[in-house]
Amino acid sequence: MPSPAETAISRLDELGKISDSPAHLVRTFLSPANQQAAARILSWMSDLGMETTQAPDGTVRGILPGTQPDAAPLLIGSHYDTVIDAGKYDGALGIIAALAALETLRLEKISLPFPVHILGFSDEEGIRFQTTYLGSRSITAALDPLTLATRDAAGITIGHAIVTESPTATAAPIFYPPGTPRGYLELHIEQGRVLEEAGEPACVVTSIAGQSRLTITLTGRADHAGTTPMPLRRDALTGSAACILAAEALAQASPPLVITVGKIQVHPGASNSIPQTASFTIDLRHPDDKTRQNALTQLHESYLRITDERHLQLHWQPVQDNNATPCDPSLTSALLHSLTTITGSTLAIPSGAGHDGVVVSKICPIAMLFIRCREGLSHHPDEYATPEDIATGIQILTHFLKSQPA
Ligand code: GLV
Ligand code: MN
Ligand code: MN
Repeated sequence: MPSPAETAISRLDELGKISDSPAHLVRTFLSPANQQAAARILSWMSDLGMETTQAPDGTVRGILPGTQPDAAPLLIGSHYDTVIDAGKYDGALGIIAALAALETLRLEKISLPFPVHILGFSDEEGIRFQTTYLGSRSITAALDPLTLATRDAAGITIGHAIVTESPTATAAPIFYPPGTPRGYLELHIEQGRVLEEAGEPACVVTSIAGQSRLTITLTGRADHAGTTPMPLRRDALTGSAACILAAEALAQASPPLVITVGKIQVHPGASNSIPQTASFTIDLRHPDDKTRQNALTQLHESYLRITDERHLQLHWQPVQDNNATPCDPSLTSALLHSLTTITGSTLAIPSGAGHDGVVVSKICPIAMLFIRCREGLSHHPDEYATPEDIATGIQILTHFLKSQPA
């Protein structure tokens, strides 16, 4: 009989093979692989005797009742979507570790006084629509009309995707009025090198950095590549190149500001036509919200200058803006107690990566546990956490669950 930690590792391997591409791991909002992963998670929840549901957006939930039925539930979860060419730990580990902690309690014949709700969010990465946290946003409030009207690369809106692609389009939403859960807990790989350098398997998280996402579109004029002299060109792509380098220079001059351009699209996209339009994404993050807003203003001003000099039109489109989110001091100190009991460590660090807790913090206190990952590597197929560290993370979660008051 495999231990809960061994089961967790084999489940990670199994989910890591469920992909929309044979070439690499990718699961995006409501894609076939995303739905297949959701079905596997639901079946593991059922195996634990949990009552399961799936929301219209694809988010899955398993409920383990407590001995005191009126007690507020504790939410534990993470996301099961991935980036493109992903590793198998980012997101999935948090759901699978939560299942393993409950399995440990079951083997120890321990019943908790309060209900535990395990949540698997259908979209955190925001790959398909460039909008992060769709899954966790759906449990705090209905998605607003502007969000539902957001289109993917094929022109399909989020609203239409839910109605036509979701296996549970007509199901009741999973929704928590503010203040109804006792808290939200998420285990996640660190995605950085602090734990590796400290020689520690795990730590708690103090806060989650703020993040802005934008889509920038530059419009010039398409023309013939062989006959248009350089001074007469209005090339949207060379203008975008100048803008992208300006973003890099701004971030390099202002640590810990980080700016990433991860996607670019060019029209008409032919080697012998001057690009008419170029669109690219901006992901801009800083732990301090005011500094992040100032950086956005500076970047916008430099883009106005660049496009003016090059006779291009600028469309500056903010897509998402999330403030830095502190973790809850009291829930985090309870988690820290479990961390210290199991590992002896008292390490607490801020998260540079975004997490569903940013959104869930609108309805209840949040806490996060980070697990060491090799070389801090993430959003890469070589992402890796050792089975020993994962087992330690499950032990910490289990200890935390046992220590929570009724
Ligand atoms: C999620 O992985 C993010 O920080 O973008
Ligand atoms: Mn991620
Ligand atoms: Mn993640």
